[in-house]
Amino acid sequence: MNTTVQTPLELNRQDLFPSSIYRGNSEDFLHLDKACDPIIQGLIKENQNKLKSGKIKQLPNSYHSENLWNHKPFEEFVKYVMQQMWNILAWQGYELKGKKPLLQECWVQEFPEEGGFHEIHIHPNNHMSGFYFLQCNEETSKPSFHDPRPGKTMTDLRMRDGKKIEIGSNQVHYSVKPGDFIFFNSFMPHAYSHHKGKNKFRFIHFNMAAVTDPSLTKISEDENNGI
Ligand SMILES: [Fe+2]
Repeated sequence: MNTTVQTPLELNRQDLFPSSIYRGNSEDFLHLDKACDPIIQGLIKENQNKLKSGKIKQLPNSYHSENLWNHKPFEEFVKYVMQQMWNILAWQGYELKGKKPLLQECWVQEFPEEGGFHEIHIHPNNHMSGFYFLQCNEETSKPSFHDPRPGKTMTDLRMRDGKKIEIGSNQVHYSVKPGDFIFFNSFMPHAYSHHKGKNKFRFIHFNMAAVTDPSLTKISEDENNGI
């Protein structure tokens, strides 16, 4: 059968239930790289000691800090990313009345020189997630996003040209540079390709939930009196 019939029926297409990725760049927070240095150095030392003493058999696939959302140097960054993600949820049409943003996780991560990666995962119990890249280049790991629809994934056809991003595509890889932001809904499966070498790959990863705050839901006097 021809790929395209001679006289196709005129059809109106509607793209529903999209998986949106939001990308931008700002160098305003690259200074955080310095604040991350002692955190990462501490993690490298800790893991190398564990390896020497036999507590672990191999280095982790990523040096992963504790939650940094409460650390003073990250204060402005946390406020900034929460506002961006709140804006995105509002653009997507969600009712945010009576809710407030809660940044539940904010980590800095660096891949070991010996090799690093992240397997495909999502962030449950969150609504928006994001990355901010501090150190990276063309040689380092690339973030990838994968189709979140299990039904499509199970029955997918091979693409004619896997390098093109088309309606049928089931994954995308991005090249990133320092200062790049990527925001996405937390249901989006994502991963990082394997990277080994002296080129540093360091980024901040954060997750936010829109949680209900009863104090934001003002009940009028009439409603209180049952009118
Ligand atoms: Fe993640």
